[in-house]
Amino acid sequence: MEYQNILVETKEKVGLITLNRPKALNALNDQLMDELGFALKAFDKDEAIACIVITGSEKAFAAGADIGAMANYTYMDAYKNDYITRNWEQIRQIRKPVIAAVAGYALGGGCELAMMCDFIIAAENAKFGQPEIKLGTLPGAGGTQRLPRAISKSKAMDMCLTARMMDAVEAERAGLVSRIVPLEKLLEETLAAANTIAAMSLPIIMMVKDSVNRAYETTLSEGVQYERRLFHSSFGTDDQKEGMKAFMEKRPANFTNK
Ligand code: CAA
Repeated sequence: MEYQNILVETKEKVGLITLNRPKALNALNDQLMDELGFALKAFDKDEAIACIVITGSEKAFAAGADIGAMANYTYMDAYKNDYITRNWEQIRQIRKPVIAAVAGYALGGGCELAMMCDFIIAAENAKFGQPEIKLGTLPGAGGTQRLPRAISKSKAMDMCLTARMMDAVEAERAGLVSRIVPLEKLLEETLAAANTIAAMSLPIIMMVKDSVNRAYETTLSEGVQYERRLFHSSFGTDDQKEGMKAFMEKRPANFTNK
C-alpha cells in the first residue's frame, strides 16, 4: 500500500508509524485509519519486528476524527458504511505491543487511539481530552468505555461531559499514561522502551500482552486462570530454558524466539 497520511519506518526491531496530516493536526479520516491498520498488520506479520510505536507531531498526536469529513454524514451513511470508526478495533487485534508516543493534542479519536495502544508515553506538552460533546456528539471509538477503565468513572465523566483537557501531569497521576518525558526526548525515550521490550523473547512478549489485556475482558478468577495457562505454556519454549539458564550462569540471555 502507498501511504499518503502516515510515515512508516523500521528502527532495528521496532516498527515506527508517524501520523502525518500536519495541516489538520493529524485528524483521523478513514483513509488514514485504513493506512494505519494496514501498516500495523504488516508489522505484526513481520518476524523481524517485536514492538510497534505510533506517534504524531510535536503539536498533535491527533486532534480527533476528521470533523470536516464527517460533518455532513447522515445516520445511514455512518451506520451502513460504518464510517469514521469502521476499522478502529483492528488495532486491538495486533498481537505485538503497540506504544503510543504522545506529544501535543490527543483529543477525541486521538485520545481513543492512544488508549487502544498498550501504553502511552507522554511528552510534557501532551493534552488529552474527549471534547465530542461540544460538537453535538459523543466519543465514538471507545472513549466512554476505555476512559473509565483507565482513570476512574469520576474523571471520565468530568472529561466527557465538560470537554476539558487533561495535561500530562494529571494524566500520569490518573494512570492514563505510564510516563512523562521531555518533548525533545519523546521519540528517543519511547524507542528505548520499545527496544527494551524487543530484546525479550517475542512469543513471551506476546503472551504478556495477551494476558494483561485479559484483565479488561474477564473476571479476576478467569483472568488468573488464563494467566496460569500461559505461564505454564512458557515452559514449553526454548526461551524459558535460555532465560533461566542465563540467570543462573550470570550472563545476558540470548533469546531465539522459540
Ligand atoms: N478534524 C478536522 N480538522 C481539524 C481537526 C479535526 N478534528 N482538528 C484540527 N483541525 C484543523 C483545523 O480545522 C485547522 O485547519 P485550517 O488551518 O484549515 O483551518 C488546523 O487543523 C489547525 O487547527 P486550529 O487552527 O484549530 O489549531 P489551534 O491550535 O487553534 O487549536 C485544537 C487546536 C484545540 C486541537 C483545535 O483544532 C480543536 O479543537 N480541534 C478539534 C478537536 C475535537 O473536537 N476533536 C474531536 C473530534 S470528533 C471525534 O474524534 C469523534 C470520535 O470519537 C471518533
